[in-house]
Amino acid sequence: MGRHVKSPASFVQESSEWVRKPKAIDANLKDYAKACRSFRWKDVEKEFDWHRTKKVNIVHEMLDRHAAGPRKNKVALYFWDPAGRDEKYTFLDLKNASSRFGNVLKKFTIKKNDRVAVFLPRTPELYISILGINRIGAIPVPLFEAFMEAALFDRLENSAASAMVTTPLLLSRIPFKKLPHLKHLFLIKGKGEAAEGLPSGVGVYDYFEEMAKAAIQLTPTWLTADDGLVIHYTSGSTGRAKGVLHRQYAMVGHYQTTKWALDLRDDDVYWCTADPGWVTGTSYGIYGPWTVGASSLVVGGRFSAEQWYEAIQKFEVTVWYSAPTAFRLLMAQGKDLPKKYSLKSLRHICSVGEPLNPEALRWIRDITGIAPHETWWMTETGMQLICNYRSADFKLGATGKPFPGTYAAIIDDKGREVPLNTLGQLAVKTGWPAMMKAIWGNKEKYKEYFRVKGWYLSGDTAYKDKDGFIWFAGRADDVIKTAGERVGPFEVESALVQHPAVAEAGVIGKPDAVRGHIVKAYISLRAGQSPSETLKKEIAEFVKRNMAAHAAPREIEFCPKIPKTRSGKIMRRVLRAWDQGQPVGDVSTMEE
Ligand code: WTA
Repeated sequence: MGRHVKSPASFVQESSEWVRKPKAIDANLKDYAKACRSFRWKDVEKEFDWHRTKKVNIVHEMLDRHAAGPRKNKVALYFWDPAGRDEKYTFLDLKNASSRFGNVLKKFTIKKNDRVAVFLPRTPELYISILGINRIGAIPVPLFEAFMEAALFDRLENSAASAMVTTPLLLSRIPFKKLPHLKHLFLIKGKGEAAEGLPSGVGVYDYFEEMAKAAIQLTPTWLTADDGLVIHYTSGSTGRAKGVLHRQYAMVGHYQTTKWALDLRDDDVYWCTADPGWVTGTSYGIYGPWTVGASSLVVGGRFSAEQWYEAIQKFEVTVWYSAPTAFRLLMAQGKDLPKKYSLKSLRHICSVGEPLNPEALRWIRDITGIAPHETWWMTETGMQLICNYRSADFKLGATGKPFPGTYAAIIDDKGREVPLNTLGQLAVKTGWPAMMKAIWGNKEKYKEYFRVKGWYLSGDTAYKDKDGFIWFAGRADDVIKTAGERVGPFEVESALVQHPAVAEAGVIGKPDAVRGHIVKAYISLRAGQSPSETLKKEIAEFVKRNMAAHAAPREIEFCPKIPKTRSGKIMRRVLRAWDQGQPVGDVSTMEE
């Protein structure tokens, strides 16, 4: 790094306000400092059956072993969609349902290591599909429901998924003709729902019909700890979305962080608000909570402040894992609304995805009595790595401290740790349990993360204070975090230049009070096109329709020319300076 931060600035800490904890707090992790001294990942392996049997499959550890013991009839999944579904599934129910789906997949010759895309709204079937895919050792590729054709094409082509689970409504977005690998389609149809535009040359099967015919017994396909678990596509600052492949061994990390950072216990009702289309929704919406045997709530449908508060009240949620943008959206609705609901069941709250600003933290603490705890991690890290812990005092605004058994530091380009309070690249010593196994089909990209020997480079800038807290400062690259979701500028620029009026486009994140950042596009128009508000709307709509709503620019500014280096790279740093009305700095590499 270093090269992005011109002069490593010394930081004077802005806030040293503490969130203090009572001495006798009843948390799974009792003493952070002690755990850092004595904790060993090897010991966590003993919590899993595979440690004795040598037969690995995360679905056995999540479902089958609980279904064979006292948790058999415990609710694993509460599903509530305010639009009309309210269901419960025990560990045994999920074991049976995932076995059925595993049998369905096997019937159509889908096997270990095959990639199966799951493109579904948040429903029980989404969870059952992922569990069924993992049961047979195939690799789920969750695709966020909002993706449109161009985004889907990139991900389906790259993963070469041979099968897909989806609904009739989403079908029209999938470019089957351009995806020769995609051979099997499992359609989840509502009662009497017709499916139009069915592709030819692809086997199309009715999910519910096939499930009804399938046997309820299916021993998991036994794997090794190094075998594949899931592929999540995520964006970098260059190129198309990357497929981050995780391995089965990640469960060791999911399990322990779920115990110590989320602090889950057997009597909890846990609510992770993330969609399994993103890593939080699998690592901590599926793998973590169910390996520890917790009851998990999933709420379907879109964000609504009323329904979120109602969910906490109705299900007596005890542990809540959400994101700063969600907290700020709740905040925007005011304090009278939460007063109408009982939120007293809550005992622990965690936050992820973007920095949690002190205002949002204080606001959530005011309405619930509990301060949200930061957890920092990435798609690539697979698990939480820097956190604030339930039993430990922390500084308001700090990202936290490395999880016991991991080592995070602020380093320069050569891998040297920089002094305290100095900005540098946030890096993690390699070798934690959930570290990604590969970038699917791209060894070079994978290597980039590890170009400083012994370290994983996060791409975030941060500094460390004298008390050992790490403070997130920003991204070192051009990746945009909007409403907690990661957007690559290149993907959006590629979508923009498909529009007939657009000659060139440069995309940046613009600071925003609610969403953290919004996607902003600078656009130069083709000859003969004239700038107008209508055209801006049309262009934004075009990205929404072709790529995904969350990636569409919320702000567009026309400019005569996009600033580029002589080698043709878009200088997004200059765009950011334009946006903020700041000096553009050194532009000696800019083309004439
Ligand atoms: C950002 C999400 C500040 C960061 C699990 C990181 C955070 C990127 C935090 C990864 C946090 C995540 N405080 N920033 N607590 N957590 N980030 O892959 O920039 O969607 O590199 O993974 O989100 O985003 P991703």
